[in-house]
Amino acid sequence: MKIVITDYINMEFVEEKKLFQSVGAQLEVTQCRTEEEVIEVSQGAIGLINSEIPITRKIIESLPDLKVIAKYSIGVDNIDVVAATENNVFVANVPDYCQEEVANHALALIMTLTQKIVALDHSVKQGKWSFSEGAPLHRISTQTVGLISYGKIARNLASKLKAIGFQVIAYDPYYQKSNQDASIELVSLEELMRRSDVVSLHAPLIKETYHMINKDVLSLAKPNAIVINTGRGPVIKESDLIDALDTGKIAGAGLDVLEHEPIDVNHALLAMDNVIITPHAAFYSEESFQELKRKTALNIMDVLKGKKPRYSVNNF
Ligand code: NAI
Repeated sequence: MKIVITDYINMEFVEEKKLFQSVGAQLEVTQCRTEEEVIEVSQGAIGLINSEIPITRKIIESLPDLKVIAKYSIGVDNIDVVAATENNVFVANVPDYCQEEVANHALALIMTLTQKIVALDHSVKQGKWSFSEGAPLHRISTQTVGLISYGKIARNLASKLKAIGFQVIAYDPYYQKSNQDASIELVSLEELMRRSDVVSLHAPLIKETYHMINKDVLSLAKPNAIVINTGRGPVIKESDLIDALDTGKIAGAGLDVLEHEPIDVNHALLAMDNVIITPHAAFYSEESFQELKRKTALNIMDVLKGKKPRYSVNNF
């Protein structure tokens, strides 16, 4: 039985190798860069473990023994789930390993930008010593954060924002409000953009959300609004965001994810003082990383034992 890691970021696989060996499976670790390479190294594989490289219909249909593709993340937007389902291949993710980390990262970006920490720090390092270098700065209890999508990460963040004093509203066309969270005000996307001082994106990347934040939507924002994205880059049409920042239609942005990662060194966003960028790092803590590795391996183990993966995203 062969399991192939198609690509990975900064990992060692001692535990996974031991685990798979315990049921007679071999782990092959590769760092593929093309569709052809994945097809070549994965011949005979029952399972693929995948990080970023697209797992296309062609790959899936070229691997007749394939039973499961386990993704090292929550989002499975780089995997052709429809093709996998049609070919009776499970797609599995780890939906619950980093809610705390991503919510805290979004909170850190929100606090850094609303409290003007970077601007104040720069001003001190340039020899200035005045609170007014951060002006205008507003009392948190006067500020509204609009959460776009109200899934697990956004709900974790909402409770923290409320504890600090922010007012919180959300847009999520599929969220069913229950008694436990009666305090969240659900609004339309347009109303959210009009009312929010901070717009924080937590949407999955699907057809419906691709370029959801574009020129038209950004034109509704308050001029003091900041946009935070810890979801997926292509949910924002980046050229429209740059235009809105350039022309002062919005005041700033905190981005952990971008349309194209890694960012080009000459990218316009890198030259903007009102923009903070982190390298798709929101998911990371030592603890979340270990949990991700362990649960991904267990998704594969379930299939090796003849069961459905515990975190299957498709059913057939
Ligand atoms: P979740 O599955 O709990 O929530 C997703 C929410 O999106 C659901 O409430 C759903 O109703 C909503 N949604 C679906 N279609 C929508 C639409 N058309 N418009 C608006 N909302 C819609 O997911 P969770 O755990 O909260 O994660 C959210 C996203 O965060 C993931 O899909 C992933 O892309 C991203 N993420 C980013 C990480 C990072 O390191 N920056 C790490 C982990 C996740």
